[in-house]
Amino acid sequence: MRTAGLAFLLAALALAGCENPQSAFDPAGDEAARVLALFWAMLAGGVVIWVIVVGVSFYAVKVRPGRHSERTGLRLIIWGGCVFPTVVLAALLVWGLGLLNDLRRPGDGPTIAVSGERFWWRVSYGVTGAPGVLRSLPRGGIPGANEIVIPLGQRSTILLGSPDVIHSFWVPPLAGKMDAIPGRVNRLILEPTETGIFNGTCAEFCGLAHAQMGFRVIVVPPAEFEAYVQAQARPAAVTTGPGLDLFLKNGCAACHAVRGTPARGTVGPDLTHLASRRMIGAGILPTTAENIADFIASPDHLKPGVEMPAFAMLPEAEIARIADWLGSLQ
Ligand code: CUA
Repeated sequence: MRTAGLAFLLAALALAGCENPQSAFDPAGDEAARVLALFWAMLAGGVVIWVIVVGVSFYAVKVRPGRHSERTGLRLIIWGGCVFPTVVLAALLVWGLGLLNDLRRPGDGPTIAVSGERFWWRVSYGVTGAPGVLRSLPRGGIPGANEIVIPLGQRSTILLGSPDVIHSFWVPPLAGKMDAIPGRVNRLILEPTETGIFNGTCAEFCGLAHAQMGFRVIVVPPAEFEAYVQAQARPAAVTTGPGLDLFLKNGCAACHAVRGTPARGTVGPDLTHLASRRMIGAGILPTTAENIADFIASPDHLKPGVEMPAFAMLPEAEIARIADWLGSLQ
C-alpha cells in the first residue's frame, strides 16, 4: 500500500514537471527559466553540503570515534564553517543580484495594466506607463478581464496595482510572483518563449474568494496580439435585443460596461467581449450561456465573497435571455 502511494506521488511529481500550464518546473518564459536554473543550482549545492556534513559526522562518530586533535577540529571549523559558506553565499548573492538586475530591465513589448480587484483581474491594454514610481495605475486603455494576451518573444510590461487589498500576481510558467498593492504600482516583465495558455493565480490571501481568483495568460505571435487588441477595442457585436433590454432594466449596467450600449458601469468587469474569454468568474467556469445564467442567479454560491449580488429573484426565462445575449458577445 505504502509503495503504491509513493509510486503515485512520484508519478504525480513527474507529471507535474511536464505539460502543466501552472508549473514553475515547466518554464515557458525567460524569468521562470532563470529562476528555475537558480533553484536547481541551489538544490544541488544544498545536497552536496548536506552529504559533506553528514559524511563528516559519520566519520567522527562511527569511523574514527574518540578524541580528535584540536588542530584538525579548528581547521575544519575555519575552512568548512567560515570560508566555504562565505564563498558559496557570496557567489549566490552575486548571481541573484545580477539576475534581479537583468530581469528588471525595461521591456520592448506592450504595457498592460492589471488591477487586482475583489476577486478578479481588471486588465487594460494600450496604456502608457511612465518610468519611475507610479502611485496608481494609468487610466484608460482597452478593457479586459481575467485573460491577458501577450505577444511571443517580446518583453511585455505588466503594471500591477489594486484599489483596496493586497493581491499577488503569479503565473508560474512565465515568471515569479509580484504583489498588486494599493498606493503603488509594481512592474513585472513577462518574456514568453513559447506560445500557449498558462494558468495564473492570486498568491496572496485577499479575502473569501482568494482561491477563486484565477486568470490566464495567453501567449500568441505578435501579429495575432495586434489583431486581438484591435478586436477588443471594438464595441459589442450585438447592441440591441431583449437580452440587452433586461440587462439595463435590472440594473446590471450600474456595475458592468458593454461598449456600444448605454451600459457604462465600471465597478465590475467590462463585458463587451465576454464570450471571447474562455472562463467566467475569474477562472471558475467555462464561458457558456448556462454557466453565465447560473452565475447571474447565484454568484455567491459559485464564488463566496463575490461583490456581485445574486439575481435569483428574476424569472428564469429573463436570466436565460440575458445570459444568451452575454454569451453572444464574442
Ligand atoms: Cu486576490 Cu488573493
